[in-house]
Amino acid sequence: MRAPSQGARGRPINAVAPSAGQDWDSERYARNARFVSTLGEDLLALLDARPGERILDLGCGDGVLTAKIAAAGANVLGIDASAAQIAAARRLGVEARTADAQALSFDPEFDAVFSNAALHWMKQPDAVIAGVRRALRPGGRFVAEMGGHGNVGAVRTALGAALARRGIDAGLHDPWYFPTVEDYRGRLQAGGFVVETISDFARPTVLPGAMVDWLETFAGAFLAAVNPNERRAVLAETAAALEPSLKNADGSWWVDYVRLRFHAVKPAGGS
Ligand code: BEZ
Repeated sequence: MRAPSQGARGRPINAVAPSAGQDWDSERYARNARFVSTLGEDLLALLDARPGERILDLGCGDGVLTAKIAAAGANVLGIDASAAQIAAARRLGVEARTADAQALSFDPEFDAVFSNAALHWMKQPDAVIAGVRRALRPGGRFVAEMGGHGNVGAVRTALGAALARRGIDAGLHDPWYFPTVEDYRGRLQAGGFVVETISDFARPTVLPGAMVDWLETFAGAFLAAVNPNERRAVLAETAAALEPSLKNADGSWWVDYVRLRFHAVKPAGGS
């Protein structure tokens, strides 16, 4: 096993545990998922990064938003569970390294922790929140957007049905955590944060390609549970089931995204 890399103050960053079956091919991601960072851009306004601030980008993916935070003059570190995504982020010139956001070991050294479209891959939210709190200086902020309750509900249902027809319980392989506002607010408060704002909203999103491309990019954990000879059929059945609701008259596809967005603060007196 590779030796763990060192944290900002020499403490080890824990070994990485990406979602089982979900691989991040950075070229496929750029082709099928560029909208994720594009739609995340207005979250940067909520972050309001200032020159000289030290900022942690949690689940930085291919680093497109990390680079924008750096362009605002902040000193930003991106972390992600995927080595392929970290390699892509480094190609943009940002400081980035692989790490498990569910086992952060930073000292209180960041002015802000930012996260776009990553927290819903982390099924141990209390561990994430505790690590973020430790990583923040007193008064530091946690600004994030993730999938909210009901996110990609139609897609999840159709995938679940295709797996069930093969005797597979999709719930056992589901890598996603889409909390309600009440759930995540409660966890943030229990974790020692003051929640300044938190809300959810629908964001129906037109895809750059076909539903099958989206499934291949994001639903790898479900597909990995299926016999390789059956995967094409599962993709085709899922897309066929979704066609009446998620395919537009012009042939484009959309996905039923719901976002959960919040701004929470570690109290100034907190350690
Ligand atoms: C999301 O950003 O909401 C999302 C991404 C991948 C899979 C499911 C949801």
